[in-house]
Amino acid sequence: MSTTFDKVLVVDFGAQYAQLIARRVREAHVFSEIVPHSMTAAEMKAKDPIGIIFSGGPQSVHVEGAPSIDPEVFDLGIPILGICYGAQLLASMLGGTVEATGRGEYGKTNLSLTYKSALLADLPIGKEGCPTVWMSHSDSIVAAPPGSTITASTAEAPAAAFEDSAKGIYGVQFHPEVAHTPGGQEILKSFLHNGCHARSTWTMTSIIERSVQNIREQVGTGHVICGLSGGVDSSVAAALVHKAVGNQLTCVFVDTGLMRAGEGEQVEETFRRQFEVDLVHVKAADRFLSNLEGVSDPEAKRKIIGETFIRVFEEAASDIGEVNFLVQGTLYPDVIESGTKDAAKIKSHHNVGGLPEDMQFDLVEPLRDLFKDEVRAVGEELGLPEEMVWRQPFPGPGLAVRIIGEVTAERVGILQDADAIVLEEIRRAGLYTEIWQSFAVLPCIRSVGVMGDARTYDYPIILRAITSEDAMTADWARLPYELLERLSTRIINEVAGVNRVAYDITSKPPGTIEWE
Ligand code: XMP
Repeated sequence: MSTTFDKVLVVDFGAQYAQLIARRVREAHVFSEIVPHSMTAAEMKAKDPIGIIFSGGPQSVHVEGAPSIDPEVFDLGIPILGICYGAQLLASMLGGTVEATGRGEYGKTNLSLTYKSALLADLPIGKEGCPTVWMSHSDSIVAAPPGSTITASTAEAPAAAFEDSAKGIYGVQFHPEVAHTPGGQEILKSFLHNGCHARSTWTMTSIIERSVQNIREQVGTGHVICGLSGGVDSSVAAALVHKAVGNQLTCVFVDTGLMRAGEGEQVEETFRRQFEVDLVHVKAADRFLSNLEGVSDPEAKRKIIGETFIRVFEEAASDIGEVNFLVQGTLYPDVIESGTKDAAKIKSHHNVGGLPEDMQFDLVEPLRDLFKDEVRAVGEELGLPEEMVWRQPFPGPGLAVRIIGEVTAERVGILQDADAIVLEEIRRAGLYTEIWQSFAVLPCIRSVGVMGDARTYDYPIILRAITSEDAMTADWARLPYELLERLSTRIINEVAGVNRVAYDITSKPPGTIEWE
């Protein structure tokens, strides 16, 4: 089996779709890497790509300072596919003409094929007797570069696709990467296989094999530790490192007492019993609770939890003896975004299981090249339980940021019980993977109720269920009334100390997903 991969560079011109293009290439089993448009041709060549894709972008090529590319990229002899802005840039840099015609196209558009092109050969014919594609452009390419052939046009785009297959130059004004272009993936595949002669070796099995090889080379005979949180990323990273170096790995699971019900047991069951990993399970609930005593400010809670976690982790590490490497579950989107994020701080996300800044280890990051869906596929391939691989995101500080006010053992217990019911019912309704996150929040207020003819004065539980693509924005999930009713009845009947249930119908923005 081949563990070498052909690589395609996706040049990012500020498109919302650059990551999507990169994922589509990988779905065709070819490795892709996103690079900035400021990268020089020499730097691109050094990466040894078999093809280059120019993404779309929000600008017009006519605007001063619009993103461009090192013209020497055209001398590398590497096939290039330009998409939307990328196609316009190709056209304008290679001697074609792009005009602000004032007649853009947005959404589904009929395409008329004007020349037989291998790139467009597999586009399915729609109801109206022609392929339909997804457009989003205001400028139009009105003349293709000299030597190129126009292969398709639309009502407003005389050169909706052009190519110079001898030179390996292809441009499409529409977006083949989006699901709204039926057969769009076939265009990308044709570019990869016919245009670039790429091999389809980027498969789960070969990703795992290559990763195992790399980890072995990096680690040698050294000892590795991994902070397990029970979440997808640290679990998959640990399973990969274990496959590579077996008992040179020790996993540390710090039970903060702020986890969901049953989480510690599942980590034990999977890693200690199923995978026979050397696992240190530090039961530190009392220490976390006592450090959190009397604290209700959300940022103060996060800071205390972060610091306590690091201290507990360091103590566990020093008990293990000589440790040279620390596993981190860094994913590809974190790598792409690091250093470019300039957002205002809304809350200081604390990632339990993350890197203590002052620790002296080399990092092992086996997921650095992978998107989340690839991480999940690797986890499944490695035999991790489905509940672990498909787990909804959970904040590092755990239930502490879902108890609004001081965290006490009693409140953690109430919230764990309510949360377990929420997850059970959401699963039973078949909504668990469709919903981004669903959980219970415990605000530290009490309200009056009546149960069995007697007055109650207990906590409410707030249900939060949201849909999202990436947690940056979110909408409240339209849960069926029957499900809300069952959740309310079960939580009030089964969780002592709760007499009321409310549903949070706030989107993000203006709310955040978590309450703190
Ligand atoms: P917010 O509440 O900011 O959350 O809308 C966005 C996503 O991040 C998760 N979250 C955290 N994750 N440490 C984490 O590891 C944190 O401190 C933290 N706070 C929020 C949250 O669950 C959601 O998925």
